[in-house]
Amino acid sequence: MTIGLIMLATSINAIAIVSDFNNVIPRPNNITILSDSDHFSLNNNTVVCYDIDNESNSIHLRKYIKDATGIDLKTTHKKHCKNFVRLAINEKIYNPEGYRISVSKNCCLIEGKTKAGVFYGIQTLRKSFVPEKSASIDIPIVLVEDEPRFGYRGALLDVSRHFFKTEDIYRFIDMLALHNLNIFHWHLSDDQGWRIEIKSRPELTAKASVRPETVIGHNTPKYDGKPHGGFYTQQEVRDIVEYASDRNIVIVPEIDLPGHAQASLTAYPNIGCTGGPYELWKIWGVSEEVLCAGNDSTYRFIEDVLGEVADMFPGELIHIGGDECPKTRWKNCAKCQAKIKELGLTDQPGRTAEQQLQRYIMEFAQDFLTKRGKRVIGWDEMLEGGIGGNAVIMSWQGEKGGIEAAKMGLDVIMTPTSHMYFDYYQTSDIENEPNANDGYLPIEKVYGYDPVPKELTPEQSKHIIGSQACLWSAYIPTFKDVEYMSLPRLAALSEVQWCMHENKDYKRFTNSLETLLRQYDSMGLNYSRRLFDVDAKFSTDADAKHIMVTLDAVNNAKIYYTLDGSEPDTKKNLYTKPFEITNSSTLKAIAIHDGFGTGPVYNEKIDIHKGVFRNITLHTSPSSNWCAAGCQTLNDALHGNANRESGRWMGFREEDLVATIELGDDNEVSEVEVSTCMVKNKWSFHASKIVVELSGDGVTFTTVATEEYPHITWDQNDGVRKHSLKFEPSIARYVRVTVQPDRKPEGHNVHGGGYVFVDEIVIR
Ligand code: ACM
Ligand code: ZN
Repeated sequence: MTIGLIMLATSINAIAIVSDFNNVIPRPNNITILSDSDHFSLNNNTVVCYDIDNESNSIHLRKYIKDATGIDLKTTHKKHCKNFVRLAINEKIYNPEGYRISVSKNCCLIEGKTKAGVFYGIQTLRKSFVPEKSASIDIPIVLVEDEPRFGYRGALLDVSRHFFKTEDIYRFIDMLALHNLNIFHWHLSDDQGWRIEIKSRPELTAKASVRPETVIGHNTPKYDGKPHGGFYTQQEVRDIVEYASDRNIVIVPEIDLPGHAQASLTAYPNIGCTGGPYELWKIWGVSEEVLCAGNDSTYRFIEDVLGEVADMFPGELIHIGGDECPKTRWKNCAKCQAKIKELGLTDQPGRTAEQQLQRYIMEFAQDFLTKRGKRVIGWDEMLEGGIGGNAVIMSWQGEKGGIEAAKMGLDVIMTPTSHMYFDYYQTSDIENEPNANDGYLPIEKVYGYDPVPKELTPEQSKHIIGSQACLWSAYIPTFKDVEYMSLPRLAALSEVQWCMHENKDYKRFTNSLETLLRQYDSMGLNYSRRLFDVDAKFSTDADAKHIMVTLDAVNNAKIYYTLDGSEPDTKKNLYTKPFEITNSSTLKAIAIHDGFGTGPVYNEKIDIHKGVFRNITLHTSPSSNWCAAGCQTLNDALHGNANRESGRWMGFREEDLVATIELGDDNEVSEVEVSTCMVKNKWSFHASKIVVELSGDGVTFTTVATEEYPHITWDQNDGVRKHSLKFEPSIARYVRVTVQPDRKPEGHNVHGGGYVFVDEIVIR
């Protein structure tokens, strides 16, 4: 009878899932297949036996396998001799988070130097197969030996700009665990809301955890009229800390000082320079309202808050912020100025008295926490006023601060906006994405990041203790959006943090990603599929007068395309090799990814106007970071979209753009169209003036069109504007175009003037 039942059960789920460690992300350092002809079968009769340190790991393993496959493993503390998985500590393993998986026909042994190592062995096992209801998993006879490259593998979640419920925080921790991250940087306070109960400071949660409404979009003049907020009680925090710890994740709480502090001021106005009244900020950006550094109450406030925070979070590291603290208030505050005097601070080359005052307040917090056995982390602005002790620097404004700190012998965590800000768009096609922070960070760029800068010596490199992704939530309103912005970029990050740089391989990564994406599916995670999009590259051949188009998609997916604007489908025009375009066309293309369908249709207008295939000379210099691929970008037949960072736009600030396009022979010309791209928050505005001049000899030019535009106002929408300058049809060989940035846009205090981002200069 029993045998009959078992046979019935196996015949229902007859096909075993096959595990393959080559598909695990992050990729284990060493995978040695010991036998091809056999396997270990994990099934309902498999027993997980664990030593005493690994009881919680046995519970994790059992749950992961049950959720993914339905297989119900038994667990026991006792020894077992057949069909078992053993979870054990092995002191001989070198790295505290290292692990080893040894599989034989009879058993699967997962060992770690510590229970953290065993936990990562379990993660690797669960990621080695595609989740599916089944009666068994065939695990190859294999030896996996693995350890992480970095000891600090973090991700930041900002819960101030948008609040996420405790269930969401648990889910976030599960996401980090799945990717072998071990630090959750919890950004708990900012201008838009205070998020953690401080018993000695009840007004923080009573008055500063719910803002009355929130700005819509990128600081438009509109508000949603809806209160938003919430906070975590100390009990909730302690439960979350324990949940994280059980998954080898340390929580680094951040209380941002002395800037990004408008929530603190809203609750306790006496600790601000003006005394208030203050209210929670309803917009995004950097507020000028900061903690008053000349007020004793401010220091008592810091002690009260950090004292309770230190008690709630058992980890060594506490983040005390230090970023983006404008000094406007301090300059005009009698108390701050008196403090500066009392401390004997004076302006020094490269270091103002106010910057040194910031150092004073940060060191006050640092000393307080050091006495409690803690170590502080601060954003790289901490370096501006000078820094002491053993503070850890978090390098976010590029790598410069991190390099400087490592050279000073300080430990560093790399989180440069360029590679680690996951609130940025993950595709250039931003019109078809949820609203995000203006920045562009495709997954391939994340993947390619090496946190150890080349400038550092091997000795200095030891101070780069890890890297971290940041999810700032101004434009991430729901937890589903957190998932979408994180995944699968978190998978790319996990290889940056875990794997040696030389062992990374983007092709291998994308090929093995499917197994992980199926894991996301089984966990109900909302992930982006934009890495499946068609990627098109264009190269102009001026002599042959054509544009070569090369299409690509990850994992050698089949691509179908059209050039007449019609919708592509799988019945016609399979892409097989690069092709030429000689006339204006609309390229549309799709890539087919088995099991994942197709992404949005790739759509590009190739505009072969009179200026294309012609010589262009730029007489002025773009801003250093905004050179695109050189001035050929301005007449390459391709138009930039609202993504300023797509590589199609050249940015000018210090100088006007002045460019001459040489038409080669006499041409009739009657219109020049210049596109500009506005992203107000990034100080990029439309042009204030455009001039078109024509010439027959390239020496004497005649102005044929001049347009001046009113200053940009804050209520205007971001995006692309086409400036069309029409004039009497004229014969010309040279067209010179001047584009002047709006250096004084209204209502915006733009230091150094606004940029103008220019793309295609179309000549008709
Ligand atoms: C930051 O992005 N202000 C650290
Ligand atoms: Zn002050």
